[in-house]
Amino acid sequence: MLGVFRERCRKLVWIAIKQSTFLTVNRNRLIQRIFTSYYYLHTFSKPIMTVSFICRGPMKNQTTSAESNSDPGLLVDLAQYPIDAPQSYGYQSLIRVCHRRLKADGVCILPGFLLTQATSRMAEETDRIVDRAFQCRDDHNPYLDTDDPAWPIDHPRRNVQATNLDVLGYDLIAQEDALHNLYNWEPLVDFTRDVLSKPVLYRMADPLAAVTVNVMREGQYQGWHFDEAEITTTIMLQEPEAGGAFEYVPHLRSQEDANYGDVKKVLDGTHSGIRALAVKAGTMVIFAGHFAMHRVTHVEGNRTRYVAILCFKDTPGVMNSPEVQMLFYGKTSK
Ligand SMILES: [Fe+2]
Repeated sequence: MLGVFRERCRKLVWIAIKQSTFLTVNRNRLIQRIFTSYYYLHTFSKPIMTVSFICRGPMKNQTTSAESNSDPGLLVDLAQYPIDAPQSYGYQSLIRVCHRRLKADGVCILPGFLLTQATSRMAEETDRIVDRAFQCRDDHNPYLDTDDPAWPIDHPRRNVQATNLDVLGYDLIAQEDALHNLYNWEPLVDFTRDVLSKPVLYRMADPLAAVTVNVMREGQYQGWHFDEAEITTTIMLQEPEAGGAFEYVPHLRSQEDANYGDVKKVLDGTHSGIRALAVKAGTMVIFAGHFAMHRVTHVEGNRTRYVAILCFKDTPGVMNSPEVQMLFYGKTSK
């Protein structure tokens, strides 16, 4: 019922734009401009957020903590990102934008995906368990492989990168916690599936890795690497005071071309295409990390960097190996 009402509100906006703004242009151009304006308003601008607010009722930030934990729909800014309304024009526009950004930049950034109160709640819930995080210290090459002396000593596959971060596994996140509820919310799975253009998507079955929080205190960092997973979904729960920048080079390699020459330039610090993402708390990032090498620079200041990693797979029952579980969580699930 609410969805129908919301759609009617959006149509009224559309009609209002049509009648008030574009009467003097010809019909085809009129239709084109209406679609363009509506698309722009709905996707990027504050005015349409106000309209969505009117259609949806009270601001979600006014809910209590208990409400926002029990109803995952109250964690996400659905006015800006209507992931609970897959039939809506706004949802379809959002998916198209995500497709374009992933294709062009290898990354789709959704600022303010979480409501402010939800972001704070998740950070507070992380504070409560952070002392139980496993200290992951690992030296690896950019491919997360073990060293292979068959390659020349100056080859990227012999390059040693260090990672120094702490990891909270899924087993440490309580079922009533907001992050747990968000991960287990069907519209989030469906939205991620549509962004990735997959016919079906599943939550990861691994009881340690399905949802994790990477914890980085002052001086901690993550070295250059390519992810094993094609796409990674993360949410910044708490920014550090400084440093902790996410740096990456989009489309650095492909299925057909390892592009070792440019990989070496990145490792040497001479590549001109290194980008840095300024990610604020509450931002969701969908990142094609299998083909884009990336790292996190040293964290500075007293505020700990918290990043949640939400794992989805296109086959059911996916688990990490016991070796990988030991590396990242210091234990196995068996
Ligand atoms: Fe990564």
